[in-house]
Amino acid sequence: MSSNLFRTKKVEQSILDTEEPEHALKRSLSALDLTVFGVGVVIGTGIFVLTGAVAKENAGPAVALSFAVAGLVCALAALCYAEFASTVPVAGSAYTFSYASLGELPAWTIGWDLVLEFALGTAVVAVGWAGYIRSLMENAGWTMPAALGGRDGAQGFGFDILAAALVLVLTAILVVGMKLSARITSIVVAVKVTVVLVVIIAGAFFIEGANYHPFIPESKPVPAGESLNSPLIQVLFGWAPSNFGVMGIFTAASVVFFAFIGFDIVATAAEETKNPQRDMPRGILGSLLICTALYVAVSVVVTGMQNYSRLSVDAPLADAFKATGHPWYAGFISFGAAVGLTTVCMILLLGQTRVFFAMSRDGLLPRFFSRVHPRFRTPHRPTILLGVLIAVLAGFTPLSELAALVNIGTLFAFVVVAISVVILRRTRPDLPRSFHTPWVPVLPVLSVAASLWLMLNLPTETWIRFGIWMAIGFVVYFLYSRTHSRLARGETPADGAAEPRGDAT
Ligand code: ALA
Repeated sequence: MSSNLFRTKKVEQSILDTEEPEHALKRSLSALDLTVFGVGVVIGTGIFVLTGAVAKENAGPAVALSFAVAGLVCALAALCYAEFASTVPVAGSAYTFSYASLGELPAWTIGWDLVLEFALGTAVVAVGWAGYIRSLMENAGWTMPAALGGRDGAQGFGFDILAAALVLVLTAILVVGMKLSARITSIVVAVKVTVVLVVIIAGAFFIEGANYHPFIPESKPVPAGESLNSPLIQVLFGWAPSNFGVMGIFTAASVVFFAFIGFDIVATAAEETKNPQRDMPRGILGSLLICTALYVAVSVVVTGMQNYSRLSVDAPLADAFKATGHPWYAGFISFGAAVGLTTVCMILLLGQTRVFFAMSRDGLLPRFFSRVHPRFRTPHRPTILLGVLIAVLAGFTPLSELAALVNIGTLFAFVVVAISVVILRRTRPDLPRSFHTPWVPVLPVLSVAASLWLMLNLPTETWIRFGIWMAIGFVVYFLYSRTHSRLARGETPADGAAEPRGDAT
């Protein structure tokens, strides 16, 4: 049985699967599209919203260092992702890569984990977007009824109608097709990058040096009785839970890590890329580099404009401009943030449906979900199913704590990908790799250690929730996926291609 759990799907088989007419996606993306795609999803709630909270509660002005730490962790992972994405150019990201290298059970684990990352990530961003929209509406003198507003801190029954509506509209756009999505994405990315540059350039004129003292605020103990909220590392080692200081930089890094989530989704679009061997590494590393530079610059500027203890938690970038007496900039930034968060939400949703699609194509989830739409060539069924579920989730749930859950899921995926690079080099040295991760196995080992370090800096509560989600995943695997797997049934691509497409719409 154990050999069954670790049965691997041949890389050639993965590539062949994508060529079955029933399951083929359109190949239309270039390296530039991928970079735009990456920047489109990466810059979002992380920089626009979380910067304020972590500077205020965990790191002070040293939040810039936290962004640098999180960026470094992602760069190590990106170098591993790039090798995989250029070797196994099929939909599914870390899921597909691990199916080809580690085996079915690890692949299931990672796929299940990615579903969590993308679904909750989409919901978190949709709620952040709705907050900015409400704030813009309030500027114009319109106020939403409380029952239709945000759920964070709200009393009684309510539904965040704006967040849910955003998810449903984006779902419809994705069903209609990738091409349309990519075009909308590039316009929105331009707006978002402009806003970020305005924050950096205009904000630089309003910096006051005194705000940088102290740059790393002294460590402060957190109140007793909040141990489940403390980073696991502090609980494990019996350290007194504290904020700020050097450890605070890492706590903040494990939270602002959310700001980098998404570059790995570039890898999920490999199957829709014209020349994945050349363009994937360029797309992944390019978008990551641009974002890290922008994040560090934005956080240096914002903590220089306003003392970290006074930064706002809801809209820190816009409010720093209000605080320095420049409300016009604040309105412009809020508008740009709202526009920018739209693409983040859309691309997370896209990544999510593509993982689900790949798992279904392999038979680990019902095959019904992997028939592409006959006209749009998009996996419309998982897109609609997940879109509706996420819309409900975004409408009903206060999501502030769920961002941490998204982070732990993503970091776990990074660990598996880094391990897979080393394994695949040994088991399939023959595969052509247009991009080689440098210094294997040293770099993948560093990547595993760095990702684990950030995971340990996440709250104990987050670890418990993550454990529960993964436990449910194992139950589904053993009750359904193990026996329905195409690999288990010995099906060939031709078997799949012979299935009727009649039920496709
Ligand atoms: N990186 C994305 C964001 O910050 C998910 O919103």
